[in-house]
Amino acid sequence: MKYPKEYLDEIKTRLKVSTVVSKTVNLKKRGKEYIGLSPFKTEKTPSFTVNDEKEFYHCFSTAEHGNIFDFVMKTQNLKFGEAVRSLANLAGMRPYTFSKEDEIREKKWNNYKSIFNKYVNHYHNELLKNSNSTEAKDYLKNRGLTKEEVQKFKIGFDTNDFNFQENIFREYNENEIKETGLFYFDENKKKYISRFRDRVLFPIKNISGDPIAVGGRVLKDSKYLAKYINSPETLFFKKGSNLFNLDFARKLSNNLNSIFLVEGYMDVIGLSKNKIDNVVANLGTSLTNRQILTLNQFFDEIVICFDGDDSGYKAALRAAENSLIELKPEKKISFLFLPDNHDPDSFVDEKGKEFFLEFSKSNSVSIHKFIYNHYFENMDDSPSSKAIFEKRLRSISSTIKDEFIRKYVLEYFLDKISELSPNTNFKYKKNYTKITKSLKSTQNYYNETKSLKAIDLKEFSFLYILLKKPELIKDNFHLIENVKLFSNENKLLLSEILSQSNNFAITDIENINIDKSLIERVLKYASIKHIMVKNFNDNEKILEILSELIRDLKNYELEIRIEELESRFSEDLSEVTFNELKELKKLQKIN
Ligand code: UTP
Ligand code: MN
Repeated sequence: MKYPKEYLDEIKTRLKVSTVVSKTVNLKKRGKEYIGLSPFKTEKTPSFTVNDEKEFYHCFSTAEHGNIFDFVMKTQNLKFGEAVRSLANLAGMRPYTFSKEDEIREKKWNNYKSIFNKYVNHYHNELLKNSNSTEAKDYLKNRGLTKEEVQKFKIGFDTNDFNFQENIFREYNENEIKETGLFYFDENKKKYISRFRDRVLFPIKNISGDPIAVGGRVLKDSKYLAKYINSPETLFFKKGSNLFNLDFARKLSNNLNSIFLVEGYMDVIGLSKNKIDNVVANLGTSLTNRQILTLNQFFDEIVICFDGDDSGYKAALRAAENSLIELKPEKKISFLFLPDNHDPDSFVDEKGKEFFLEFSKSNSVSIHKFIYNHYFENMDDSPSSKAIFEKRLRSISSTIKDEFIRKYVLEYFLDKISELSPNTNFKYKKNYTKITKSLKSTQNYYNETKSLKAIDLKEFSFLYILLKKPELIKDNFHLIENVKLFSNENKLLLSEILSQSNNFAITDIENINIDKSLIERVLKYASIKHIMVKNFNDNEKILEILSELIRDLKNYELEIRIEELESRFSEDLSEVTFNELKELKKLQKIN
C-alpha cells in the first residue's frame, strides 16, 4: 500500500522540520538553520542541525539525515505508516485509510483538480489574449494592476466560452463537473451555465498551490449583482480551512516572522504589488480556529488588518474573540486599524510599502488590548454596565485554552479594571506591602515616616547594621556582598562600606568617603535602631534580623523584576519572557 505522493507532500508542506523536531529537541536559531543537541547520541555541544528551506535535518556526529518522516520513525521507533498517521494528525489533516472511500475520493480529486486547472488556465489566457476581454483588461489597468500581478495571481476573465464548456463536458462526466461548482444547471434554460461568466476571476489555491475555487468580481458595480461571488463549498474547498495566497505566503516564513491577514482579494494583490507578500485573505468569511492554527504553523505573529469601516471593525472583533481561544505563549495576534475608510489595498496604494510597514509597527494593538478597549469604550458609568463589562472580560478570558495565557490575560484585564476604581478593587492592585511588610517592632516608626517608602526604610535598617556592627559584617561578608539596593543614595553608601570591608578592614564611619548627610539619614530613620540598642551585644539576634532584612530586599528585587516582565509579557506574549517569568516566580516561592 502506497500513500499518494500528494498526501505526503501536503504533510511536508504543512509541517516545517523545525516544528516537528522541536517537539523533542530544544532548537536554537542560527542564521537560516536551527541547531540543537543530537537526539541520536548523548553530547554536550550541539551537532544537530535543521534546515526548513531544504526540508531536512542533519546530525554531524552520527551522520543521521532525513525528512520529518525519517525523524519521527527514528526517534519514536515507528513504522513509516505510523509516522505518517501521527504527522498528518499534527498537521490537522484527515487520516488516509486506504479504504474504498479514500480511493474514490482520490479519483474525484484528480478530476476536480484537472477541471479547475483547465478552467483557470483557459480564462487566464482569454484575459491576456482575447479581444473579448478588453473591458476586463481596462478594468484591471484602472485598478492599477499590471501584467505582473495578473500573471502572478493567474487572474482571468470568464468570457463564457461555449467551445471550452463543450470540451469540458465531453471530457468529464456530469457529476464530476457539478462537483467543481464552476457550472450550475439552469432549470429554465435546461442547461449548464458558467457560474462566473462575465466576471474577473481570482483563483483560490490550496496550500499546495492547486486551484480549488475561484472568486469572481463584476466589472461594474450594480444594484442587482453581488460584487463578488465565490465558489460554493465543495468536497475539496472548505471556506473555513482555506486562505487566499497561503500557498505563496507560507514560503516566506523561513525569513519572516509575521503574516498580514486581510479581508479581500484586492488587498492581497495590492500589498503584493507593493512588495509586501506575507499576506493572506479570509475572503469576507469569519475567521476560524483552523485558519489561525494553520497560520501559526508558519508564523509567530498574525497581524489582522481589516477594512477601516464599520463592517471591517465588526469582523475584526469577531476574529479577536474567535482567535483569542487559540493564543499560545510563543504566538502573537495583533490588530491594525486603518484610518478613514481605507482598506489595506487603498492604503498601501496611497502611502507605499515603507509607510505601511511603519504604520503597522507603531499602530497594531495586541489582541487582549483590542478586546479590552472595545468593551471599555462600550461601557457607561452605571454599576450594572461596569458589572457586565467585568463579567464579559472574565468570561472571554476563561475560554483561552492555554492555561498560562488564560491566567495572564485575565490578570491584564483585572489590572486594568482595578485602575478604573482604585477604591473598590484594591485587592487586585499590585502593592508591595506583602513583600516589604515591616518587622512588627518597627511598625510604629514606619508609620511616622510615611513619606519614605517602605523599601527605603528596609534599606536604612540594613545599612544601619552594617555601620554599627562592622566587625560582624567582616565575618559575614558573604551574606551581604550580593544584596541589591534601590535608592541611588543608599547604593552609593553600600558600595563605600563594601569597598572598605573588602580590604578586611573594619568599617569606620568617620572615614567613609561620602556625603555625611547620607549617613545621617540612615542613623535617623533606620527603624531597627531601637531594637539594636536593646540587643547590641546579642550577635546571633542581630544576624537573624539581618538575614530577615536581606530576604525582604531580595524579594523586593524579584517582585520588581516580575512586575517588569509581566508588563513586558502582556505586550509581547513571547516565550522567552514567559520562561524568565516562570523562573522568577519559582525563585519567589523558594524565598
Ligand atoms: P470588499 O468589498 O472589501 O472587497 O470585500 P475588496 O476586495 O476591497 O473589493 P474591491 O476593492 O471593491 O474589488 C472583501 C472581501 O469580501 C468578499 C470578497 O472575498 C472580498 O474580497 N465579498 C465581498 C464577497 O464574497 N461578496 C461580496 O459581494 C463582497
Ligand atoms: Mn475592501
